[in-house]
Amino acid sequence: MKKKLRAGLIGCGNVALNHHIPALNCLDGVEVTGVADPTAANRELARLALKLPDRAAHADHRGLLKSSINYAVLAAPPQFRPAIVADCARAGVHVLTEKPLCVVPAEGQVMIDRMQEADLSFGMIHNWLFLPEYRLAHKLVLSGSIGTPRHITLQQLGMRVNPGNANYHRHWRHDFAHSGGGILMDLVHLIYLAIHLMGRPIQAVSATVDNFDRDGEQVEEFATAQLHFDGGYVSANAWWGQGPNGFELSGTAGYIVHFQNTSGDSVLSQVTVVNSDGPRSYPVTTNKTDPCTGSFATVHRDFIQAILENKEPVAPATAGLTALEGVIAAYASAATGQTVPLPLDRGSSLFKKGTAGIRDLPIRPDSPVSKRRLFGLKEC
Ligand SMILES: NC(=O)c1ccc[n+]([C@@H]2O[C@H](COP(=O)([O-])OP(=O)(O)OC[C@H]3O[C@@H](n4cnc5c(N)ncnc54)[C@H](O)[C@@H]3O)[C@@H](O)[C@H]2O)c1
Repeated sequence: MKKKLRAGLIGCGNVALNHHIPALNCLDGVEVTGVADPTAANRELARLALKLPDRAAHADHRGLLKSSINYAVLAAPPQFRPAIVADCARAGVHVLTEKPLCVVPAEGQVMIDRMQEADLSFGMIHNWLFLPEYRLAHKLVLSGSIGTPRHITLQQLGMRVNPGNANYHRHWRHDFAHSGGGILMDLVHLIYLAIHLMGRPIQAVSATVDNFDRDGEQVEEFATAQLHFDGGYVSANAWWGQGPNGFELSGTAGYIVHFQNTSGDSVLSQVTVVNSDGPRSYPVTTNKTDPCTGSFATVHRDFIQAILENKEPVAPATAGLTALEGVIAAYASAATGQTVPLPLDRGSSLFKKGTAGIRDLPIRPDSPVSKRRLFGLKEC
């Protein structure tokens, strides 16, 4: 019988309980042998869902790291990752982390360096790469169906506010010190998808972020970012509000449109490609209730292969750092009214402090960031 990898779960909140545990329970190549979470109720829920003995549940991740696991799944909020990853590197444990990589790019770089020095795999849960509509669009782009992509619109305007776990901190996504940003930080998916679909790096970002109905909040509820590429642009739009979700890709030889309609437990969506052969539609049906075929299971499968074959996972931590820089550049642009080049200057406040580094920039007093006092700005 093939040996299974031993995985440990660090952070047992909503994404762990609803997505990672059901996905991991489907996989042959891995067995979850322990969990860690300072919130006793959540660690107990995870322990029961995994049918583990009492001794396998730890209040502190360092206890879990002593139990000879091969890889840790990091599903605690992002600002805890630097300390946890440093301990994983010391313990010789591979890491698969939830997005965003962390909230401060310089800390992300240190994590990447430590894991590299320890010769360990460090992967991102960039699971939207594996959603069927994006996979299909990517395949169509690679096959030349629309020529060279010139403009993409990625829309997530109908996002429901995703609260933190009630046993922990329901409001952490809106607490700047905890999250480092609002909807765009949460939907960093849009930044890595933009890079993936365009097939080239982002060169600069210009953006606006705002709050319409949540005055007094520390982070944005709405973001519209223009990502500049060599010979192309992506508009990434996100709102904890009402609106369509989906995408449009325009290329030199045609275009692709994705329409998404959510009903019940399944998402019915359709991808249509229009080119010189005429229009062609592909239905995309995802059964969201089947964790074994979903995007989380696919990410774990890929990471297990990466460990076993000593190769890069589909989304290495360096891709997480690039995506994080895209989010922070968007916030800086929204605050200053200027286009921000990427990658961030390694010596800049933005790189060293993340979104908090905006305070060191010339902020436009008429920008929504300033007027709403987002991101910990007191007054300008
Ligand atoms: N890939 C996706 O599609 C997706 C979906 C949802 C959430 N996420 C990401 O997953 C992460 C967690 O989100 P969530 O919605 O599960 O949050 P949550 O509030 O539901 O759970 C967070 C959990 O982390 C625990 N925790 C806090 N500090 C910890 C520490 N030092 N060590 C271990 N555990 C700790 C809390 O006690 C809580 O149980 C976030 O980074 C979020 O962006 C990703």
